[in-house]
Amino acid sequence: MPVRQDYEDFYTRRMFYRIHDCWNRPIGSAPDAYVDVLERTPVCGQKPLELTGNKIRALNLGSYNYLGFAAHDPYCTPRAIETLRRDGWSSCSPRAEAGTTPLNLELEEELAAFLGKPAALCFGMGFATNSAVLPALAGPGCLIVSDALNHASIVSGVRGSGAKVAVFAHNDVDSLESVVRSSIARGQPRTRRPWKKVLVVVEGIYSMEGELAPLPEIVDVCKRYKAYLYLDEAHSIGALGKTGRGVCEALGVDPADVDVMMGTFTKSFGGAGGYIAGSKELIDALKRTAPGHLAATSMSPPVAQQVLSSLRVLTGADGSNRGAEKLRRLRENANYLRKRLLDLGVNVLGDWDSPVMPIMLFQPGKIAALSRECLKRGLAMVVVGFPATPLLTARARVCVSAAHSKEDLDYAIDVLDEVSGLCLLRYGERKKGAASGGVGSSSSSDEGAAPSSAAAGLVG
Ligand SMILES: Cc1ncc(COP(=O)(O)O)c(C=O)c1O
Repeated sequence: MPVRQDYEDFYTRRMFYRIHDCWNRPIGSAPDAYVDVLERTPVCGQKPLELTGNKIRALNLGSYNYLGFAAHDPYCTPRAIETLRRDGWSSCSPRAEAGTTPLNLELEEELAAFLGKPAALCFGMGFATNSAVLPALAGPGCLIVSDALNHASIVSGVRGSGAKVAVFAHNDVDSLESVVRSSIARGQPRTRRPWKKVLVVVEGIYSMEGELAPLPEIVDVCKRYKAYLYLDEAHSIGALGKTGRGVCEALGVDPADVDVMMGTFTKSFGGAGGYIAGSKELIDALKRTAPGHLAATSMSPPVAQQVLSSLRVLTGADGSNRGAEKLRRLRENANYLRKRLLDLGVNVLGDWDSPVMPIMLFQPGKIAALSRECLKRGLAMVVVGFPATPLLTARARVCVSAAHSKEDLDYAIDVLDEVSGLCLLRYGERKKGAASGGVGSSSSSDEGAAPSSAAAGLVG
């Protein structure tokens, strides 16, 4: 049997290798509002792309640096450096052995308080938080009800758990209820015994869709059917809600109604790792049973310090109002950019306040066109295609940050206005004067608005 499926092999040879310069682009600076993209040799089939030695300074709409903590921060960076000098890069040991430092404990305590949960447990990697904790929570005889668009780390955890999985249509509460109801009515396969446990798993913001989960309605279904709720807040913690407490705060859900809160530190906190927050019993049980805690090296001390410090900025415990200011700016930037993108007539997915804004390309050929044309104009964006999405729903994903200024966003709009004309991406109507600055962009026609001054400057 071939290792790769025929179709994937065909796609890899005929498509991927013609546009593979659009992925895995190496970067040579912190993922701040601007980033250095390292130039590589032009596409040359299956040959590896080689670095030319040139750097392209580009406006960064690709990184998950929601609150701008990924670059130098006057509060976090000196503390992380001091911790590095004192504790080194790694504890070289799992938490359960010699890997627990006072920093880990402080972080867990302050994080639990921030999330409104009695206890929390941190892990060295966000992906592994899902993939290693889900198998510790559910196993054979249990049912996991999973949103169809849940992240790969959740899928991996669900598969590894040995529990039965039932998938419901993405963000569709009626589908969730019908799957939960029918699964409970049928019981376990063959024996028809009741499930030992039913666990519903959803995300706060879906990163390929930019959509928030309808959490109040999901909580309602879980309560009515006595199912546990597991919420992955990788993209929503620190990014949503008036004080950054995530989708619960944004949608008015009591954190007590979410049994297992999961999140990662790679987005809003500019660090690495993940957490689980919940009841004391839950966290104590994970400390005894979760392999990701017992057998994986604990968070790197400077990274734990970075996360703790950024959390303190977020809550104002650093003595400044920078956290509140960052949150305000992120929300304003997200809604400003979304509105401006909608005005361009491109097909933007997602909800207001979401810092993730996928722009639909549909046709896979447009992946390379958009990515290359944007980079030529000094705009770095992530493009997503098969197999991460179905073949005909390729998209570009815009991530906005509190680190972006209004001028940065206006510039991005100017570039996208021009490139969306070139790549025929206006599936809707372009509003009059949709591009900022209005230079050469007052046309209301669907195609080919003239380049704006900012974009033209970079092209030249
Ligand atoms: C919903 C979700 N969960 C988990 C992860 C994994 O987190 P990390 O990248 O921090 O390992 C991601 C990564 O983007 C994610 O989007």
